[in-house]
Amino acid sequence: MRNFISVHDVTSSGGNIPAAIDALVEKALAYKANPLKDKQLGTGKRIGMLFLNPSLRTRLSTFVAASNLGLEATVFNVDKEGWAMEFEDGAIMSGHSVEHVKDAAPILGNYFDILCIRSFPTLKNKEDDYSEQVMKSFVKYAGVPIVSLESGTLHPLQSLTDIITIKENTVSQKSKVKIVLTWAPHIKPLPQCVPNSTAQWINAWGEADFVITHPEDYELDEQFTKGATITHNQQEALKDADFVYVKNWSTYTDYGRIYTNDPAWMLTAQKLKLTNNAKVMHCLPVRRNVELSDEVLDSANSIVTQQASNRVWAAQAVLSEILKHG
Ligand code: CP
Repeated sequence: MRNFISVHDVTSSGGNIPAAIDALVEKALAYKANPLKDKQLGTGKRIGMLFLNPSLRTRLSTFVAASNLGLEATVFNVDKEGWAMEFEDGAIMSGHSVEHVKDAAPILGNYFDILCIRSFPTLKNKEDDYSEQVMKSFVKYAGVPIVSLESGTLHPLQSLTDIITIKENTVSQKSKVKIVLTWAPHIKPLPQCVPNSTAQWINAWGEADFVITHPEDYELDEQFTKGATITHNQQEALKDADFVYVKNWSTYTDYGRIYTNDPAWMLTAQKLKLTNNAKVMHCLPVRRNVELSDEVLDSANSIVTQQASNRVWAAQAVLSEILKHG
């Protein structure tokens, strides 16, 4: 693995992505059982973690994962402590931005052996966000492996974590577990990164009966959802689900908007009765009693803490692959 930007970076010798995802999950679980077994792997190497946006889980879990591999990690909050960065080719930099990525990225590539970047979409310009300009610029100019800590369209470390957590919690004898990704209300327009990424990874994994449910006009980009069953009927979708993944996202077609905030879409204990006693997932942070009710979050069905804790092992598996093969 050279970079980790999307599921397409997960490869095996035969090009079998489902098998490669399973192998990465096994690797992560081996680290969970024995976190320091590769403590020498990163000795003498440095990882730079650049944040253009806030984070709790991604920042700290990746830091712990890097430490477990013996890497020296530096966290840099570009948004607060760095120069405002320009990504447009040929830009006349007479405005807000002070430093072009063309100039900054090669320098960072000389300081660090691996660079990790978090850069959310603006939700103002769909073409810019979906071109993945920030992540692609770092890949182009840094000259070292790049790991996405969430980008304009995807959140791959979250999705790997989610599959790890689903595998840990799978008790069903069914040939395929049923995973339902359900839209939830929120007060602010949020990126589509997590639902896009969930859809991309679950579809590529191919081991689930995968259903997405959302209100009208909240369709996601088909490049990620193709292969999933999509319905506007949440109750129908929840029937016999083994896992319910709750997440808000803003509109994709008429980009970055809130069309509805209907509280009827919040997952409740009553709705969970429709499921196969489903485990409930959310990437966090979660707005309690807006996206998800207290009664669900505090119930035995919720696995959000386990899910967030697994972020360490997902990051460790990815960093280890890059250290070995990047
Ligand atoms: N789930 C997630 O990425 O959490 P943070 O934004 O806190 O990193």
